[in-house]
Amino acid sequence: MSSPSIADTRFARRYGPWALITGASDGIVKACADAVAARGINVVLAARSSDRLHAVADELHAAHGVDTAVVATDFGVPSAPAMLAAQVSHLDIGLVVLAAASEPAARFVTCLWSANAR
Ligand SMILES: NC(=O)c1ccc[n+]([C@@H]2O[C@H](COP(=O)([O-])OP(=O)(O)OC[C@H]3O[C@@H](n4cnc5c(N)ncnc54)[C@H](OP(=O)(O)O)[C@@H]3O)[C@@H](O)[C@H]2O)c1
Repeated sequence: MSSPSIADTRFARRYGPWALITGASDGIVKACADAVAARGINVVLAARSSDRLHAVADELHAAHGVDTAVVATDFGVPSAPAMLAAQVSHLDIGLVVLAAASEPAARFVTCLWSANAR
């Protein structure tokens, strides 16, 4: 692991020492988790697949030397947010990225129109 830059140290002081990132096992949120870990912030990774989360956690620890924690949960289940909160309550979390699951993909105005039409 290379030494963090001064800017990264400031970022970690401001937003660390832990970040909670949901949807972190794949796609753009995995890239986001990598960017956060690269700035020296420990990461809690949440999504459904325990195997994929542990693989990402190992990857981020090896690449950036940060501590990691994994919470495998399905946010389609109403009790999931409370369970997640209980599991991370002992950690000092300064940054939260809530990005699990998909939003409807369409032109921005179309999404707004269909949301307001409900
Ligand atoms: N604003 C924009 O321009 C833009 C562009 C692209 C994407 N997005 C949004 O950004 C988010 C991530 O997109 P992506 O392309 O990276 O998606 P992705 O590759 O499908 O990844 C989704 C992540 O969410 C997890 N997940 C899915 N359903 C879940 C559930 N019920 N409970 C817990 N975790 C769940 C997945 O892991 P598991 O399958 O293991 O649960 C995975 O880690 C989505 O909300 C998407 O709509 C926004």
